[in-house]
Amino acid sequence: MIAALRWQVDSGADEAILDLAVDRFAEAAKAKAAAATKRATETQDTTPTANRQTNTATPPESPRPVPSLAATDTVNQDARVLANACNDLTALRAALEKFDGCPLKTTATNLVFGTGAPSADVMLIGEAPGRDEDRQGEPFVGASGQLLESMLGFVDLDRTANVYITNILPWRPPGNRQPTAAETSACLPFLERHIALVAPRALLFLGGTAAKTLLNRDEGITRLRGKWYDYTSPALEAAGLAPIPAMATLHPAYLLRQPAQKRAAWLDFLSVREKLDRMELEKGR
Ligand code: URA
Repeated sequence: MIAALRWQVDSGADEAILDLAVDRFAEAAKAKAAAATKRATETQDTTPTANRQTNTATPPESPRPVPSLAATDTVNQDARVLANACNDLTALRAALEKFDGCPLKTTATNLVFGTGAPSADVMLIGEAPGRDEDRQGEPFVGASGQLLESMLGFVDLDRTANVYITNILPWRPPGNRQPTAAETSACLPFLERHIALVAPRALLFLGGTAAKTLLNRDEGITRLRGKWYDYTSPALEAAGLAPIPAMATLHPAYLLRQPAQKRAAWLDFLSVREKLDRMELEKGR
């Protein structure tokens, strides 16, 4: 028994998220049966709506449908329409809170939207909330967040004053597993709008997931880091905004495991500082 529990902890299943166990197989069967009944009722019931008797009984509770990979395109379209209708960060947060297109919402404790200065010079984008972030509803508050804050401090950046931080996904993947392509794609329109609303002077992608997703590249982070790219998106173009200079660097969680790599990340942070200083100089000319 102890070995089985240890195996679960090692696999990342280290947290009970509900008070009672949920039989997901039974839920799926219930949803399938409810859908079949609904289809049968719709084909049989040809009575004009006005003549139909009102059913006063409480409808059976069916679980929220979980989007399948095949439904991803529709989810993505819905997400884009919802996100693009938001004209400020408060509206975007509210739209994400209502959005049901990403199943991670059902297992997460909190939405982890973003934090920092809404008109920040630099916007940092990580991968997804971990356990501490999920509990507190704020990105990078755990051990990686502490390292990140000290690295920012060395280049005169501060997460409350001139930096804005968010993630590719606003909900924690169970056990901190890697986000799936469907989850990333469902949430991407919100992130693209998020970036357009903050409209930072520079972007810093933390880790391979953020770098590959937002630069639309396949290479690993060690190849992508340390260079400047021009980031753009449909949301940025729709807002009439120019591409934003973007740098990719190593994720702080990786640096905690591989401290020898801090030197490379340090060079990336210095490059961000230099870029901001140069932009400031050019603005003053
Ligand atoms: N790792 C991330 O990528 N994001 C967080 O918010 C915390 C840890």
